[in-house]
Amino acid sequence: MIELDHVSHRVGDRLIVDNLSLTIGRGEFCALVGPSGSGKSTTLKMINRLVPATAGAVRIEGRDVAERPAEQLRRSIGYVIQSIGLFPHWTVADNIATVPRLLDWPAERRRARVAELLQLLRLDGNEGAKYPQQLSGGQQQRVGVARALAADPDILLMDEPFGALDPITRLALQTELAAIHRRLAKTILFVTHDIDEALRLADRVAILDRGKLVQLGSPQEILANPVSDFVREFIGDPELRRLALNIARAKDANG
Ligand SMILES: Nc1ncnc2c1ncn2[C@@H]1O[C@H](COP(=O)(O)OP(=O)(O)O)[C@@H](O)[C@H]1O
Ligand SMILES: [Mg+2]
Repeated sequence: MIELDHVSHRVGDRLIVDNLSLTIGRGEFCALVGPSGSGKSTTLKMINRLVPATAGAVRIEGRDVAERPAEQLRRSIGYVIQSIGLFPHWTVADNIATVPRLLDWPAERRRARVAELLQLLRLDGNEGAKYPQQLSGGQQQRVGVARALAADPDILLMDEPFGALDPITRLALQTELAAIHRRLAKTILFVTHDIDEALRLADRVAILDRGKLVQLGSPQEILANPVSDFVREFIGDPELRRLALNIARAKDANG
């Protein structure tokens, strides 16, 4: 579904992303993790062309993104960022309907879609009629996810979407995202610097260090076989990680 083929992003003589290759299958949930400054956000932005790949190619379903009109590409990919980026003077419903409006959906279809998403993201206590600042941080982040899903994109790019939330709200939203992924089978590339969040949510975890992909594997593989001291240090105590993972997944399984 998404193919990063020897992709780099160079600024001057600095390689922000360095020769990265990664293929994400349809319906897969892949987490991109690494310390601050390792090139995670830049990698996401090369997929929806907010920044150009200066070498290599990004393909979606086999088509080079550089050959598609950037606006059309962006409308076909859901994008969720930490600072949310909701329009403060628009209601929640109007915020969610942003892309459907750009796509000229008729009003009735937009209304029905917004109602469906408000319910999916548990914003069905009249939040649709409110303005973003009348909502809690967790609710605002839910609106961000609903807006990204509005036109039913196949791909969701999420850049530390829960990074600003308190731990309890964050866990609740992780649980909901896991459920949404199971239900809607979107292809998700999820950036985080929180290894527990990555291990909990992802089918595969890609670890970045200074712009380079240093390890790619399932949570179990990464915990069992960290390839370097860097990865070992990033993981910390693998027993603690396994414990956190098992507790979180047991909770998810119990709804
Ligand atoms: N346009 C740019 N010019 C110069 N430096 C940049 C530019 N974009 C990103 N960087 C730098 O590249 C590094 C990686 O950035 P980023 O992809 O945002 O990392 P991450 O999301 O992993 O924290 C950071 O050190 C950042 O300051
Ligand atoms: Mg970032």
